[in-house]
Amino acid sequence: MTIPMPISLHVNGERVDANVLPRLNLADFLREHLQLTGTHIGCEHGVCGACTVRVDGEIVRSCLMLAVQTDGASVQTIEGLSDSGEVADLQAAFRDRNALQCGFCTPGMLMAAHDLLTQQAEPDREREHLSGNYCRCTGYQAIVDAIETTARGRTRSRP
Ligand code: FES
Ligand code: FES
Repeated sequence: MTIPMPISLHVNGERVDANVLPRLNLADFLREHLQLTGTHIGCEHGVCGACTVRVDGEIVRSCLMLAVQTDGASVQTIEGLSDSGEVADLQAAFRDRNALQCGFCTPGMLMAAHDLLTQQAEPDREREHLSGNYCRCTGYQAIVDAIETTARGRTRSRP
């Protein structure tokens, strides 16, 4: 019999204590234990990026990380980013530039785009930072347009 392990972490700024099976991955923990279903699951092999979250400030594929590995960590999901308003301009730009169709990739894409914009105020149009996030609908051009629009808006609003 596998014995659940206690973990304690912060998710979107709130403390979470839970007992989880050692093999439970972070994506399933977020979705099934915390009902944070904005973290999508596509390939479950670390390829599509639909499950992208941040752990201690680093982008990770949550399908590749065990929940027990986040003991003591700070996890940020798309719900946290959205609720705080940090990506409101990015979300608006995605909508305005038609950077989503089915929306399956969008939470992970927003996480990756947000991470890019925190690292580079004016990123180029190369898609290297998004290379781990697949979109089957948009052809990426509109996504890059939305990121560029957001970057320009943020630059303009800087004092
Ligand atoms: S579901 Fe995690 S990378 Fe595809
Ligand atoms: S909008 Fe459908 S996969 Fe990206």
